Amino acid sequence: MRVIIEPDYATMSRWAAAYVVHSIRQFNPTKDRPFVMGLPTGSTPIGMYQNLIKLHKAGKISFAHVVTFNMDEYVGLTKDHPQSYHAFMWDNLFSHIDIPKHNVHILNGMAKDLWAECDQYEQSIQRFGGIELFVGGIGPDGHLAFNEPGSSLASRTRVKTLNESTVIANARFFDGDLSRVPRTALTVGVGTVMDARQVMILANGSGKARAVAAGIEEGVNHMWTVSCVQMHPHAIFVCDDDATLELKVGTVQYFKSIEKDNLDPDKMLIG
Ligand code: PGA
Repeated sequence: MRVIIEPDYATMSRWAAAYVVHSIRQFNPTKDRPFVMGLPTGSTPIGMYQNLIKLHKAGKISFAHVVTFNMDEYVGLTKDHPQSYHAFMWDNLFSHIDIPKHNVHILNGMAKDLWAECDQYEQSIQRFGGIELFVGGIGPDGHLAFNEPGSSLASRTRVKTLNESTVIANARFFDGDLSRVPRTALTVGVGTVMDARQVMILANGSGKARAVAAGIEEGVNHMWTVSCVQMHPHAIFVCDDDATLELKVGTVQYFKSIEKDNLDPDKMLIG
């Protein structure tokens, strides 16, 4: 596992965006061989999305041959509900880049048969040959997508009940009103994320520090589902300093030292 530690949210967001651009360019996608990405919602990736938009507008990257699969969606919110993850993704990224609409995949939380919707999502990922780079945030409880503590580390896309701490954390997007936060969601499974060729986890702020420490320093454990990435051959944690507050000083120094030549996001954008 790689651990990139940047001083602040702005720099880690620039690093994550530069890594995405670098990965897409290296892959050199075409219409018949698109670059397939997994994408998160939430407050964490917004800085990365803003940087991707900036890089796109500066002519540094095209998303014409990029295919996306979002991690999750609430059950019971229509696509145009302002708090749906559909609305989030179009507002924060897709409307500002050149991705064709039909390349975007987001689970439909209004589907009549939610389980069939989840099965079809898995099949659709397979049809594209799997996901090249899965980008994810984490919850304070270490959840990855909506894979709450105790989720099977072999899980696939399915219907999940959100736990109380996630409902409370997400109430900020619903004017703090817990009663308006959906209690169930569709989410890719831990196994779905683990099948990606690369996984990049973003974490900022001291609120994520315990989850980051569990994910990096403790054992693989279904109570901190993000810890699964220890078993992934190409996983990267991208953190700001605050998110590393619960890591051992030695762990932080270790990763800062081995990544010291790789911390400048602009280096990845050369060429
Ligand atoms: P956040 O959510 O980015 O809004 O902190 C992350 C998550 O819950 O996975």
